[in-house]
Amino acid sequence: MSEAGLNHEFGIPGAVRFEQSPEGLLLARISSDGGTADICLQGAHVFSWNVKGLLEPVLWLSREAKFQAGKSLRGGIPVCWPWFGPHAEGGSFPAHGFARTATWDVAASDVDGSGAVCLTLTLEPESMPEAMWPHATTLELKVSLGATLKLELSTRNIGSQAFVLGEALHTYFNISDIGNVAVHGLHGVEYWDTVGTVEKKVQAGAIDFSAETDRVYIHSPQACSIDDPGFARRIHIHKQGSLSTVVWNPWVAKAERMGDLGKPDGWRQMLCVESANAWDNKLTLAPGERHTLSVEYRVEPL
Ligand code: BG6
Repeated sequence: MSEAGLNHEFGIPGAVRFEQSPEGLLLARISSDGGTADICLQGAHVFSWNVKGLLEPVLWLSREAKFQAGKSLRGGIPVCWPWFGPHAEGGSFPAHGFARTATWDVAASDVDGSGAVCLTLTLEPESMPEAMWPHATTLELKVSLGATLKLELSTRNIGSQAFVLGEALHTYFNISDIGNVAVHGLHGVEYWDTVGTVEKKVQAGAIDFSAETDRVYIHSPQACSIDDPGFARRIHIHKQGSLSTVVWNPWVAKAERMGDLGKPDGWRQMLCVESANAWDNKLTLAPGERHTLSVEYRVEPL
């Protein structure tokens, strides 16, 4: 659908507006009493969230993020689906699945009873590459913006065979400095430390950062938070239907290899805390079954 068609069908004056980026990608701009958010329809990718009254954006977007067909934006909230990380059989399938670069459709927009502005996007079976995903499936992402930002990612098996699913809402948070923040709430949780030789460890206390960090906390349905004294704020991450939590910062060498984190040290201003079902927590969806992973982010002064 064109920008004009989207505005006609799903635009809400003062709340939801569609526009085309200079590169030709369709974007949804959302405003509520609580703040603003922007979504790229390619990938159903929320790429900015600003809370009214807060100086600093909550989400991080690389200065070198490319709004380009077929390329995932570096930053915001990529939707990793239907697998997390490399594909189980390796090969040439893209890391983190194909949903983050697929073209999603807009299915609904509305303002709910609490004043939150909601936009629902869908990825239909015909937009899923059959060679990578030969399973009849529908996928929906509902984004609700009020005083908080809520995302609900629903997968439904509409076929006749069960399949295994991995997924993540791969959120990049904007932080004052990686050396100055800590993640609370995962004390005592087992994790796979994937830097160097993969090893299983147990978290002791809060997570702080002084080197490359790439961890999959398993069996972790609990809420966690990022304390950022530099920005005088705490970001709460409250989730449902997610048993894994991925914590990632590439640090200097990996950031240099990746090349799109923003020079000279964009990686210091980002931290990914991802709500996932991955590794030990991949899901099996039976025919007819639906699973929803939802996460709600809230910012409070620290
Ligand atoms: C994280 C992984 O979820 O995503 C990291 O744990 C990975 O290992 C990172 O480097 C970024 O992945 P990509 O495919 O967006 O470069």
